Amino acid sequence: MAITKRKFDVVIVGSGGAGMRAALQLSEAGLKVAVLSKVFPTRSHTVSAQGGIAAALGNVTEDNWHWHMYDTVKGSDYLGDQDAIEFMCRQANEVVYELEHFGMPFDRLDNGKIYQRPFGGQSQNFGGAQATRSCASADRTGHAMLHTLYQRNVSANTQFFIEWMGLDLIRDQQGDVLGVTALEMETGEIMILQAKATLFATGGGGRIFQASTNAFINTGDGLGMAARADIPLQDMEFWQFHPTGVHSVGVLISEAVRGEGGYLLNTNGERFMERYAPNAKDLASRDVVSRAMTIEIKEGRGCGKNADHLLLKLDHLGSDVILSKLPGIRELARKFARIDPINEPIPVVPTAHYMMGGIPTNRHSQVVMPYKTSPEEVVTGFYAVGECACVSVHGANRLGTNSLLDIVVFGRSAGIQIIKDLKKNPHHKPLPQDAADKTLARISRLDNQKNGESIASVGHELHKTMDNYCGVFRFADTLAQGVTKINQVAEQVSNTEIKDKSKVFNTARIEALELENLIELAMATMISAEARNESRGAHARDDFPERDDNNWLKHTLFFSKDKRLDYKPVRLKPLTVASFPPKPRTY
Ligand code: FUM
Repeated sequence: MAITKRKFDVVIVGSGGAGMRAALQLSEAGLKVAVLSKVFPTRSHTVSAQGGIAAALGNVTEDNWHWHMYDTVKGSDYLGDQDAIEFMCRQANEVVYELEHFGMPFDRLDNGKIYQRPFGGQSQNFGGAQATRSCASADRTGHAMLHTLYQRNVSANTQFFIEWMGLDLIRDQQGDVLGVTALEMETGEIMILQAKATLFATGGGGRIFQASTNAFINTGDGLGMAARADIPLQDMEFWQFHPTGVHSVGVLISEAVRGEGGYLLNTNGERFMERYAPNAKDLASRDVVSRAMTIEIKEGRGCGKNADHLLLKLDHLGSDVILSKLPGIRELARKFARIDPINEPIPVVPTAHYMMGGIPTNRHSQVVMPYKTSPEEVVTGFYAVGECACVSVHGANRLGTNSLLDIVVFGRSAGIQIIKDLKKNPHHKPLPQDAADKTLARISRLDNQKNGESIASVGHELHKTMDNYCGVFRFADTLAQGVTKINQVAEQVSNTEIKDKSKVFNTARIEALELENLIELAMATMISAEARNESRGAHARDDFPERDDNNWLKHTLFFSKDKRLDYKPVRLKPLTVASFPPKPRTY
């Protein structure tokens, strides 16, 4: 079958903030850049980021990047790599001012400076008083950022491939990456997009869980592609459950609500976070708050007739604050919880939100093969940024608003690195003969499968398995059962059939392809979680309740082909400052 090929300097898969920030750097340098997106670029999941972008501007409370670095290391439960964390926090002010100059409409303080609000885990002076570090555009910061970056990219001539899905990575005999195969969703045509540099910015995969704040597009496509191309997935046991998803719907209610002074209540009307985090209370880090909420519900202090949620109270903030600082939250609460938070609390539960793991990268956004060399060997031609990458600045638990920071810092660093690399290697490498064979075999299997299982029912099994066996708290027996179960689901995934092809056309095909990506993530998550015999950050084991730095201060690597695990050390040495050695973590 003849396949159309198109050539670019750089192909970027994903048009969220990370992909767009990188694209801007590259297009402005005169490179020919293609950005593929399953949705219209401004509908990428960055648009849902609400509360802010972290940077120690010090506009409200005294602040500096070193305190931000400390908080991020502590928030990561010491699994974050301190060189990458220093790199990110040091650049935060610069990238925020850069966004401001790009035209991003930040809210303003009375003195005209960028508005900042407190978020969980932010402190002054290395663990002291609450800091106020999240720069915000009301509760629609991601929306403001994404539209700003899109407009800049349009004027920089970035070429967008809208409603295109990346399918498989193309690697040659040496393992170098030469582009991707992709599907034009409208026509169903498969194409080869050849590139000197391929950058994944495909976002997270929170859709492995049923209850998730993630958009339906968040199916971990980049990780699936990487795993099928023999790239390991790092730290996949660490998933963040955001404390405040709307009960039974999963829609995100920003931590900004607590940043502005809202708080959680149990059925006794008690502000229970005071018991779990006496200093930070509702602004402890997310893993701490989500665990506390889960315990409250489990011990019978949940709210409602099923005692299965808690209440987020914000009416005391007054309608002025709610309407000016949290207008989107009010809208979401009215639509999805059917209450007006000006008068009533919002019913909330911890909800899957963010994937700390991903494709292993260094701080220049190059994908690394973790062969334990120092510096690590890079995969030539391959880069990853944002939630699909694990650099690792979030370690075992990300702090709120560090994700928007991550995407712009590492989006920019990817752009800078690619420009450098293409100066050294200015030519396309020849494509292997079999560049699209793997993809064509997958499509052909799907199109011709008979008597297989329905994609929706297998997808449902996958969600149920992840929700039931790998949630906020994890137990030895359920994790072991979860591994067996997820292996069975993987078997089912390889047997799915597109039912009634005459009616469904490409959408079912896309769902089937997404499911093949989701199972890679689910498998990596369950197997990595079962093996990690300690509690750290978002990975809370009932049978190993303590962090174990002697044995587990290391990153997990999951190799999909043989379902093998390996480990590599955490980089405790920052670039220029003294290390923050692990110590007990309290809030
Ligand atoms: O709560 C929020 O606004 C989410 C922010 C984040 O995940 O960084």
